[in-house]
This record gives sequence, structure tokens and C-alpha cells, in this order.
Amino acid sequence: MHHFLSSKVVLFIVLSAIGASAASLQRRQCAETGNAFAIANELQSKYWYNISGSYTGGKLWTDANTLEDLHNLMLATDCDTYGTIADNSFIGLAALFDATPAEWEFFFGGSYDDAQWVMLALWKISDYKASRGKDYSQYMSSSLAIYDMVAAQWDNTCGGGVWWSSAQTYKNAITNELFLLTSAQAYSRTGNMTYLENALKASLMNSGLQGPDGLFNDGLNLSTCKNNGQTAWTYNQAVVASGLGALYVATGRSNETLLTQAQVSLNATMHSSLTYNNTLKESCDDANSGGTVCDKDQQIFKGIWMKHVQYFLDFANDTLIAAKYRGFLALQNSAVIRNALNTTNDVGSVWYALDNGGSEWGPQASVSGLEAAIAASKVCRVARSIGAIRTTHAVLVWNPASQSSFKGL
Ligand SMILES: *[C@@H]1O[C@H](CO)[C@@H](O)[C@H](O)[C@H]1NC(C)=O
Ligand SMILES: *[C@@H]1O[C@H](CO)[C@@H](O)[C@H](O)[C@H]1NC(C)=O
Ligand SMILES: *[C@@H]1O[C@H](CO)[C@@H](O)[C@H](O)[C@H]1NC(C)=O
Ligand SMILES: *[C@@H]1O[C@H](CO)[C@@H](O)[C@H](O)[C@H]1NC(C)=O
Ligand SMILES: *[C@@H]1O[C@H](CO)[C@@H](O)[C@H](O)[C@H]1NC(C)=O
Ligand SMILES: *[C@@H]1O[C@H](CO)[C@@H](O)[C@H](O)[C@H]1NC(C)=O
Ligand SMILES: *[C@@H]1O[C@H](CO)[C@@H](O)[C@H](O)[C@H]1NC(C)=O
Repeated sequence: MHHFLSSKVVLFIVLSAIGASAASLQRRQCAETGNAFAIANELQSKYWYNISGSYTGGKLWTDANTLEDLHNLMLATDCDTYGTIADNSFIGLAALFDATPAEWEFFFGGSYDDAQWVMLALWKISDYKASRGKDYSQYMSSSLAIYDMVAAQWDNTCGGGVWWSSAQTYKNAITNELFLLTSAQAYSRTGNMTYLENALKASLMNSGLQGPDGLFNDGLNLSTCKNNGQTAWTYNQAVVASGLGALYVATGRSNETLLTQAQVSLNATMHSSLTYNNTLKESCDDANSGGTVCDKDQQIFKGIWMKHVQYFLDFANDTLIAAKYRGFLALQNSAVIRNALNTTNDVGSVWYALDNGGSEWGPQASVSGLEAAIAASKVCRVARSIGAIRTTHAVLVWNPASQSSFKGL
């Protein structure tokens, strides 16, 4: 523990210095994410109705993603608009409370995907606090306590993997993709080899969940230990990519195969039934044909796809790879603006076509739109700051034939 704290202090100083030098560049860019701030402010005022940091109609895991996004946005823009929220939110308070393993188990109700979404939020809050020279040690130690709880759910059933829940009846893609991501990141954040070993194990486990079309299905059939062929959700296709990207970083940025592997499911997303007119469309997302609407969990999946493609590109740190996805990310943001955003900056759940009364509204749909705005603006801004591309923040066109043409209108 003491060893961890002292290396943390060193990291603190380093991060504070980086924060200071990047600040002036980032400050100029605040205005360019106006869309994200407008959605975030409406989300905060409309749904975040009390100091506990839970959104009306929210859920633990979607609230955790929202907290993460507010910090992602502040980090991207060097703004402090939402800087006091974490410490007052029910998730932040739980982290600051230094709960015992039994208390964490109770908090998550035995949901090990939820536990890992919360870890990602705690890390983004930590990164934010570090960049502002603030103490984040309790957020880090709580995140690692949660990690241990999840890691204990690993067993060799079906060749390895963590269980989705304490019922231990299902091994699914999202929980194990998240375990790859959290393990690789935990290693990069601490240098503890246990986490790297877990990440390597998890990367092997995940391969069985990918179908011949390149898309990850929902999970494994426990009687056959094979892919159960159930729904390929958008978010699964990108969380695995950011997990592989995190492993690429954790293993010293030399194994390019991991980056290639990550792009298989990203490419598959863009060329499958998960898009319509080059816009993400969940299989449940059929309101415009009078079909199904996505439920509150499913409404946030497209935004999570966007966020984790951004994370993958951050990990890859490669302009050529970013160029392949930048246009598509921008196009999603344009579709949200055109089809889903209303004049009070609420966002509906349907992105692929104008809502004809079928879109669902609420904190999950709004935060999904927020994630689209942040990811598109962050990835495009990075491109601009390195001079690779010059564009405006206006509507952007993606040419699916080349997948990389990208022009400002
Ligand atoms: C805030 O809202 C949550 C979720 O509805 C509720 O459980 C909690 O009691 C509320 N807290 C306060 C302080 O009103
Ligand atoms: C590494 O992490 C594992 C799992 O959390 C923990 O049991 C172990 O004590 C850690 N090792 C060190 C040197 O901190
Ligand atoms: C698992 O596979 C078996 C054998 O193919 C099949 O009978 C069963 O319905 C499957 N279970 C689920 C939950 O998909
Ligand atoms: C993904 O698509 C891009 C753009 O077409 C292509 O350059 C890349 O090779 C593809 N990667 C994989 C793994 O399919
Ligand atoms: C497809 O998207 C373009 C914008 O990229 C839009 O102009 C067009 O109306 C959309 N077509 C359909 C059928 O929704
Ligand atoms: C990302 O790439 C740039 C340009 O090659 C390099 O200067 C920078 O150090 C890299 N960042 C990381 C975190 O590796
Ligand atoms: C935008 O959508 C929200 C959520 O459905 C609704 O409360 C609000 O009235 C809408 N704004 C306008 C201007 O229609």
C-alpha cells in the first residue's frame, strides 16, 4: 500500500505537469464541443434530480457511464463544469467510503459487468483529479477492490472467463470484454503483473465469442461451450477493441496484431445490419418501421460503441488507424444532430432516421447522444491539432467506399 502511494505521488507530479502544458491548447478547443456541453447540461438539469448523482430513470451502470462521460468531456476540454459531481454522487461516495468486499458485493448485487462499468468511471474520475492536482487515491484503491471481486469470478468453465453474475449461470461477452479492458488498464496503472496475466487470459477467452461475420455475439452456451449466436449488440464490438487496445499499451506497444484484431469487429459493425445508411442501428432499434424500441439498457449501447472506439484510437495512438474511423464517428454525431437531438438538447434513442414518434427519451438515450458528441469531437480535434486534417465542427460526410474520406461542409 505504501509503495503504491509513493509511486502515486510521483505519477501525480508528472500528470500535473502534462496537464499544465496541454491546458492552453485544450482551452481553445472548449467551444468546439458546444454540442456535448449542451446535451450534458440538459441531462444534468433534467434527469439528475438530487445530490445523490442518480439520474431519474437511471440505472447503476448507465449512471456510471454518465459520470465517466462528464469526466471524459472535462478532460477533453480542460473545463471544470462538472468537477464537484463525482464526490457527491452515490457512486463516488461509495468509492470514498472504502467499502469492504462484502459491501461491494452488496452494492453491485452480484453484477460483474456493472462492477466494471463503475471501475471505468472511477478511473476517469481519477484521471480528471490527477490532471487537476487533486488526490484520487481512494478512487484508485476502491477500483482495485472492485477488481478483486470481479477477478474472483474467474473459473475454468468453458475454457475460462468471469461469470456475468453471482448466479454463475452465464458467461457473456460484455463481462469478459470489460475484464480484458480493466485488467490491462489496472496493469498499466499499477505495474502489478497479476493484472497483466489476467488480461492475457481474458484476450484468449474472448475469441470464442466472435462469430464468422466478425461480430461478437452476446455470450456462450454453457452446455456446448460455444458461441450462443444471440444478439450482436453494438457495444460489444467496441468494448473488445478498447480492451485489445489497452492490452497493446500494457504489453509495450509492440504487438500490432492486437490492433488488427481490434479492427475486425469495428469494421464488421460498419458493414453489417448494425448500421442503416451508415448510421448505427441496434437490432432492437426499429421504431421507425413500427417495430421494437430498445429498452433502457440497450439505448446507451450505440454511445458506448462511440466511446470505446475513441478509447481504442487513444490507445492505438496511430494517425493512420484513426483516419479509418474518424469519418464514421463524425457521421454518427451528425446523425444524432439531424435525427435525434431536439431543440432543448434532449436526445432520442433512434439515430438512423428521423424520429417519427417512436424514439425513446430519457437519461440513457441522452447520454448515448452525449457519448457520440464527445467521441466525434475528441477524435476529430486530435486530428486537427496534429494538422492531419482541417475541418469545421459542422456536418461531416463519410464516404463508405474509401472509409477514410472526410470533409467539412
Ligand atoms: C435521490 O434519488 C435516488 C434515486 O431515486 C433516491 O434513491 C435517493 O433517496 C434520493 N436522495 C435524496 C437525498 O433525495
Ligand atoms: C497485485 O494485485 C493482486 C490482486 O489485486 C494483489 O493480491 C497483490 O497483493 C498485488 N501485488 C502487489 C505487489 O501489490
Ligand atoms: C445450448 O445448445 C444446446 C445444444 O445445441 C441447445 O439445445 C440449447 O437450447 C442451447 N441453450 C441455449 C440457452 O441457447
Ligand atoms: C478495416 O477497414 C479498414 C478500412 O477499409 C482497412 O484498412 C483495414 O484493413 C480493415 N481491418 C480489418 C482487420 O479488417
Ligand atoms: C442517409 O443519410 C444522409 C446523410 O448522410 C441523409 O441525407 C439521407 O436522407 C439519409 N437517407 C435515408 C434513407 O435515411
Ligand atoms: C503518440 O504518438 C505521438 C506521435 O507519434 C508521439 O509523439 C506520442 O509520444 C505518442 N503518445 C503516446 C502516449 O505514446
Ligand atoms: C425534447 O425532448 C424531451 C424529452 O422527451 C422533452 O421533455 C422536451 O419537451 C422536448 N423538447 C421540445 C422542444 O420538444
